[in-house]
Amino acid sequence: MTTIGSPNHMNIHSLRNALTQLEKEGSGLGHFNVADLVLLKAVIAAATDTGFPVLVGASEGEREFFGTRQLAAVVKSLREETGLPVFLNADHTHSLQKAVEAAHAGFDSVGVDFSAFPFEQNVAHTKEVVQAIKAVNPAIVAEGEIGDIGTGSEIKETAQGDFKKLTTPEEARQFVDATGIDVLAPAVGNMHGMLKSMVQGKAKKHLDLERIAQIKQAAGIFLTLHGGSGTDDEHFRKAVAAGINIIHINTELRVAWRRSLGESLVRDPNEVVPYKVLLPVVDSVKQVVTSRLRLFHGELDAVGSVA
Ligand code: G3H
Ligand code: ZN
Repeated sequence: MTTIGSPNHMNIHSLRNALTQLEKEGSGLGHFNVADLVLLKAVIAAATDTGFPVLVGASEGEREFFGTRQLAAVVKSLREETGLPVFLNADHTHSLQKAVEAAHAGFDSVGVDFSAFPFEQNVAHTKEVVQAIKAVNPAIVAEGEIGDIGTGSEIKETAQGDFKKLTTPEEARQFVDATGIDVLAPAVGNMHGMLKSMVQGKAKKHLDLERIAQIKQAAGIFLTLHGGSGTDDEHFRKAVAAGINIIHINTELRVAWRRSLGESLVRDPNEVVPYKVLLPVVDSVKQVVTSRLRLFHGELDAVGSVA
């Protein structure tokens, strides 16, 4: 099913093009992490049903498990077969070598992440990597990160440390000018992973919307929101309106994957056919991706029902 009334996205042929078009439409590009074919099939199925572009992401750990070149080959094949605007990001890349490897493999973008370093070192490392990947592919989209949003798309008992190191508009401007990045990932109240209370639906992440607008103005480039899982729906919509272009979701997919896999295994202890066990898992993850995509494109109201 292609969403009725949604603009046609089939004419989008590059990630840069997708970002420009969605910004004009007032929509956010959904970035969904995958570690295996089950998750990837779910993301593609949601993109097929909705007709919305998607950015498939894989961190260093996820790439290690899937295979960097193998993931690029599968995504390329799916893009060719479906004709869908599906793009691929090397998420949270912490070294020059891994970034260049992803660029050579054909990734559309690299998320260069030296945010754990002091600002000046972050600038120097990011600039070096941006130059290296653009030497491999001048069209590649380079993302840089500043600020502290914690690590790990996992379920957490309590918030890690304090996330007071939010990005300032001045830092954002300096970082963009000095590194040559195309996309900036700031710390604006977001955090990686979900607290148990968020998984239970009892708590939500809230964003510093004013800061997003100020950073957008100062940086003047595309912005990514990391750590999207468990964020308040209304904050997502306002964040896109304030200047966020890409939204990363991972833990919500992992939670759906884990729950539905457990249920599927328990449902029939004698079932040994992998695709019979795994098909319901694809479907559960697909539902999460579909609902997030519809929200990022303004199709759901704040309580998750169809607008
Ligand atoms: O890069 C991936 C993400 O930022 C995902 O964060 O697990 O909180 O959704 P999340
Ligand atoms: Zn992230």
